[in-house]
Amino acid sequence: MKIAVVGTGYVGLVTGTCFAETGNQVVCVDIDANKVEKMKNGIIPIYEPGLDVLFNRNTAEGRLKFTTDLAEGIKDAKVIFLALPTPPGEDGSADLKYILKVANDLGPILDQYVVVIDKSTVPVGTAEKVHAAIAKNASTELFDVVSNPEFLREGVAVEDFMKPDRVVIGTSSEKAKGVMTKLYAPLVRQGNPVIFMDERSAEMTKYAANAFLATKITFMNEIANLCEMVGANVDDIRRGIGTDSRIGKRFLFAGIGYGGSCFPKDVQALEKTSKDSGYEFQILKAVMTVNEDQKTKLIPHIKAHFGGDLKGKVFGMWGLAFKPYTDDIREAPALYNIKELLAEGAIIKAFDPEAMENVKGVIGDTITYTKGPYEAIKDADAVLIMTEWPQFRTPEFEVMEVLLKDKVIFDGRNLYELEQMKELGYTYYSIGRETVK
Ligand code: UDX
Repeated sequence: MKIAVVGTGYVGLVTGTCFAETGNQVVCVDIDANKVEKMKNGIIPIYEPGLDVLFNRNTAEGRLKFTTDLAEGIKDAKVIFLALPTPPGEDGSADLKYILKVANDLGPILDQYVVVIDKSTVPVGTAEKVHAAIAKNASTELFDVVSNPEFLREGVAVEDFMKPDRVVIGTSSEKAKGVMTKLYAPLVRQGNPVIFMDERSAEMTKYAANAFLATKITFMNEIANLCEMVGANVDDIRRGIGTDSRIGKRFLFAGIGYGGSCFPKDVQALEKTSKDSGYEFQILKAVMTVNEDQKTKLIPHIKAHFGGDLKGKVFGMWGLAFKPYTDDIREAPALYNIKELLAEGAIIKAFDPEAMENVKGVIGDTITYTKGPYEAIKDADAVLIMTEWPQFRTPEFEVMEVLLKDKVIFDGRNLYELEQMKELGYTYYSIGRETVK
């Protein structure tokens, strides 16, 4: 099948590359000429494990191409994916200007039946708006608009895309249903369901999924905060409740809050949709407030530990990305901690395997970037763990002991066992667990 993907951000590029891998002819369209030129030359604009192999194979075999020209990109396409940004506007609602601009441009250039697919996370009612925008300049016989939200996670995007738990498709057109069924057939061979519903329900499903997961994490973060007050251990609580199949093991890890491009934006947008519909979604408001506070949960411990004065104190920061296996720093807790610590006069030396360039782009040289984790903690007063990269999980504690001024760890991701910290003689602060002193 010939496929066009408009927008080569995270979702668009993964979608395009993976559908090329299943044998389709894919053209990715982007207005950023510089980015398109790079991709034509084999440079992948994002870091995503496993994407390079697929990208290289499919470009080499001519199934994956790039252009800045929309008309050229959609020529002979049976489906057109819209994978465009929906940044939050000032009031928190998703801004549809990029999507509607492309929808407007599509109308005059459609010359045969095509399924236009909203892949971005878009508010309820967007499929109708896209339909209306295209219909201004094209017969409604020529196209259907389908909502097909994407559930991939950064860092495991290729795997999530190729083996989805489920595929959600919102359409009221039988013709579009047939096209979508054929397109997704190679990805659901193991029997994972393709769930058909109407457009509005599909749009809502995506928000409900992300908001539920953000709530699940936030609930555990609040349990963790309470654990600290009553002397319980959140790790044990997680094991104790996660084994209940009604609750499930995943997304129960307490820490310094969720970040990234999706959860913060989608929770905010769903709350806004609720408000606009005249419904007060109380849980979501609490989730947003708690998560904001959670990001800097370690700061009071840090201040108290150093007697309230952080001036000139040196912190070795491990991890900057909002989570491992990504260079994405959007809403990353590390950034909030850096801001607070610098304001207190502290000095930060940071290491992250992928995200240092991105952080540099935002805060420049206000902190020092190091080549490895040990260099970051050399002569530091404490280690500060912000992201659970696997290489931070089993460090050489004996090496750290020599490098650090004092054996102190503030761990925002609960990487180490309390017993181990006690044995090694570290002062260890974590989330929702007793402090080891
Ligand atoms: C998320 C959704 O999982 C995905 O389905 C959707 O398409 C996009 O948003 P992503 O933002 O890439 O994906 O990351 P995810 O792995 O879900 O983690 C989100 C945040 O939650 C991270 O900041 C992570 O550190 C945090 N998290 C996750 C926790 O704090 N605790 C957990 O138990 C799990």
